[in-house]
Amino acid sequence: MKNTDASAGHKSVSREELIDLLNEDLSREYQAIISYVVYSQVLKGAEYMNIAGELAKHAAEELNHALIVSNQIDYLGGMPAVTAKNVRTSEKAVDMLRFDLENEAETIRQYRNRVRQCEELGEYAIAEHIRTILVDEQDHLIALATALGQDAPVISSARAA
Ligand SMILES: [Fe+2]
Ligand SMILES: [Fe+2]
Repeated sequence: MKNTDASAGHKSVSREELIDLLNEDLSREYQAIISYVVYSQVLKGAEYMNIAGELAKHAAEELNHALIVSNQIDYLGGMPAVTAKNVRTSEKAVDMLRFDLENEAETIRQYRNRVRQCEELGEYAIAEHIRTILVDEQDHLIALATALGQDAPVISSARAA
């Protein structure tokens, strides 16, 4: 059965489909690099100085994730994607932090699915790499939620079968 819907993470995927899904992940990592590079520089206001420094660190971590994910795509025989998912912009600091929070939540949801999908294919090493990325993404989510003065959102995993 063919399944190319990236959101349907509970379904088993083929190696080809896994390559496509990892390329979606890579495009999300590029998006994260761009947004953290820009937001870390344009966030203004004394109350945001700490988080601006934090976002600059996130940018470097997202680059590392992009390298890890593209390495896994290459290992699977795929060609790493070269396009970023759309980056939203705003003049308002709160909006920027909220966009990042939403993107991190989606990234975490996707990577949780990816770990399951990799393991179903017996690709335990790729699953392990994604787990290490997930640890960073969860830290990013918590940092953003804290900066926004809210609890980290509960992330629903794969939509029901
Ligand atoms: Fe990342
Ligand atoms: Fe992140």
